[in-house]
Amino acid sequence: LAKVEVELASIPEGKNVIIKWRGKPVFIRHRTQDEISEAKSTDWKGLRDPESDESRTKKPEWLVMLGVCTHLGCVPIGEAGDYGGWFCPCHGSHYDISGRIRKGPAPLNLEVPQYDFTEGDSKLIV
Ligand code: FES
Repeated sequence: LAKVEVELASIPEGKNVIIKWRGKPVFIRHRTQDEISEAKSTDWKGLRDPESDESRTKKPEWLVMLGVCTHLGCVPIGEAGDYGGWFCPCHGSHYDISGRIRKGPAPLNLEVPQYDFTEGDSKLIV
């Protein structure tokens, strides 16, 4: 099983990084406190694919997701769209700062892969 390690200190707060894992893009965002508050305060039970922010993250400051739109598989653009998260330009799906689908044709939230933090939290392993 191929694993990828990412040095977390190399990703400043408020920045996105895209890595490749098994040929797929994986988005890693170091979220700000404002973004975390927004993600947690969203009334998620009414969303199309209802998931709390807590269920999508192991540590609130790190959001890790497959960068594959759940509509037809395009790669969404970061820091874009109407919900402060990602926007898929192929057919106009908007994802929020937790990667949850909010508007457009995609049926599901951006998928969260299996991942872990190393001891001392210096690295992320996908
Ligand atoms: Fe993303 Fe269609 S593939 S909206």
